[in-house]
Amino acid sequence: MKVSVSILGLNDRKKAISLLNNTNCDYIHIDVMDGSFVPNKQFTTEEINNLEIISKKKFDVHLMVDNPREYIENLDISNIEYIIVHSEIAKDINELLDLIKSYNVKCGLSIKPNTDISILTPYLNKLDLILVMSVEPGFSGQEFISNSLDRVSKLKQIIKNNNLDIVMAIDGGINGSNASLVKKSGIDMVVSGSYVTNSLDYQDKINDLR
Ligand code: DX5
Ligand code: ZN
Repeated sequence: MKVSVSILGLNDRKKAISLLNNTNCDYIHIDVMDGSFVPNKQFTTEEINNLEIISKKKFDVHLMVDNPREYIENLDISNIEYIIVHSEIAKDINELLDLIKSYNVKCGLSIKPNTDISILTPYLNKLDLILVMSVEPGFSGQEFISNSLDRVSKLKQIIKNNNLDIVMAIDGGINGSNASLVKKSGIDMVVSGSYVTNSLDYQDKINDLR
């Protein structure tokens, strides 16, 4: 299972990146929030571009914003593996996925806990990744919503039935206690924030998650 670490909960993000550089985490997860799609505002494109310079890990960028285009067009894509937009926004999703792909970056769609998974159906052929939210997006340190794993299983089945190659990722409230259950559900990648970054030994916590 791949591990991506969210640095949302930390004030000193440069320090977090340098600590994560010395772990075996697969990606660093950047939670971008516009204060409108979610009630929190975090990360400007300039800040992300500056963090990329010091990172030895690739980023996966989770855009919790109403207007992803303005972020996608201003990001330095050289160190980004995935750009993920939300399925619930009132925008042309196909156009946004094409835009991401036009930069040779992998594209993902994220889905909030109460959104019907059928919202993803029209885009499955285009997607490199699906990010199932296991908390209401907005803040780190929330409790894992357990029915998220049923949603993951249903999506895995749809992916299998259609012979698709899509990375299944889950984000929110993942910790050492629920990691093994999450792994059993067939998840390819977990995003974890506070469980890793509230500790003094990031690598130790990453080991618990794998
Ligand atoms: C929530 C974010 C998550 C969150 C993860 O809106 O998308 O990435 O920061 O943090 P934890 O693991 O603390 O829930
Ligand atoms: Zn996230």
